Amino acid sequence: MSAPNKSYDPVEVEALKPEAIERMRDEALAAFAAADSLDALQEAKVAHSGGTSPLALANREIGALPPHAKAEAGKRVGMARGAVNKALTARQAELEAERDARMLVEEAVDVTLPYDRVPAGARHPLTTMMERVADVFVSMGYEIAEGPEVEAEWFNFDALNFTPDHPARQMQDTFFVQGPKGSDGDGESGVVLRTHTSPVQARSLLDREPPVYVVCPGRVFRTDELDATHTPVFHQIELLAVDEGLTMADLKGTMDHMVQSLFGPEMTTRLRPNYFPFTEPSAEMDMLCYVCKGESVGNPDRPCRTCSSEGWIELGGCGMVNPRVLIACGVDPEKYSGFAFGFGIERMLMFRHNVEDMRDMVEGDVRFTRPFGMEI
Ligand code: PHE
Repeated sequence: MSAPNKSYDPVEVEALKPEAIERMRDEALAAFAAADSLDALQEAKVAHSGGTSPLALANREIGALPPHAKAEAGKRVGMARGAVNKALTARQAELEAERDARMLVEEAVDVTLPYDRVPAGARHPLTTMMERVADVFVSMGYEIAEGPEVEAEWFNFDALNFTPDHPARQMQDTFFVQGPKGSDGDGESGVVLRTHTSPVQARSLLDREPPVYVVCPGRVFRTDELDATHTPVFHQIELLAVDEGLTMADLKGTMDHMVQSLFGPEMTTRLRPNYFPFTEPSAEMDMLCYVCKGESVGNPDRPCRTCSSEGWIELGGCGMVNPRVLIACGVDPEKYSGFAFGFGIERMLMFRHNVEDMRDMVEGDVRFTRPFGMEI
């Protein structure tokens, strides 16, 4: 670095000459004005006001001037640098404003444009409910079995010990696809939309060798008008176990386990005598009301809407598989016994979720299904 020198004349130092300083300043101002983007301005900034810019280098020269010359040269360089920085800040603000204005236009979202995204769907609560119930049995080792919805009358009725004149066969209950048995004189089995999932019992027994443990979820059909408590298409789950030594106690224990898995550990079931052609003995199965746990019975201070203060909720039919059914399906009733159980999913959804009108389940309005969550 040059040492102070009394005879040093700033006018003689090239870089500090007024024309040189003016030129440096003008070049800087021109470069800033010419910068048409923030990146270009950044480059111009490094070149014209950075540590190695001509003005910064000229500034360093001041230190080497004799004291009497420093003030004048310092003022000249300082004013030039001040002008340069001011111009830089102004151009920076200008370019940023331009960029922001451009972004507002380019990145604008037109909220009135047509909406093309389809919301993620979810399965219907009836489907998830049916799977939840089936899972309880699958976890006990049961196998899922399915059968056709358009079913031979033989599987739907005959194999299940319904006599030819059983009222359930009549037109007012059953959708016939092909005339009732014998109606066309050839004595062949008719074809129906299955009225329950019990024909899958017969199919499962014909397909497999005992022991048989199957759970059969599916859609069933009856000629009911659609109203708050009936629908001509609904869902059932059927359970069938055939093994050596099965008793009514196994049936009860299995059903207790099911209601405990679905509704809580303190749940239990009770059986009331009933009649089904394909089970003997047969029973109607009730489960303890999972809301009041029976406490509403005879207790007017604590009425229960879910069970109408009965303490129990009717779930479905069950019983020990009738030996006639075992014989019709080629199973030796001397060696094997079995239990079966069937119930409606719509009903279960109704009381489990306080659904008051069955039509809500079939109308397909997402305002009904959405509160059940997006389980897929
Ligand atoms: N299938 C009978 C019904 O639809 C229910 C049932 C199933 C009864 C299994 C006994 C055993 O009503």
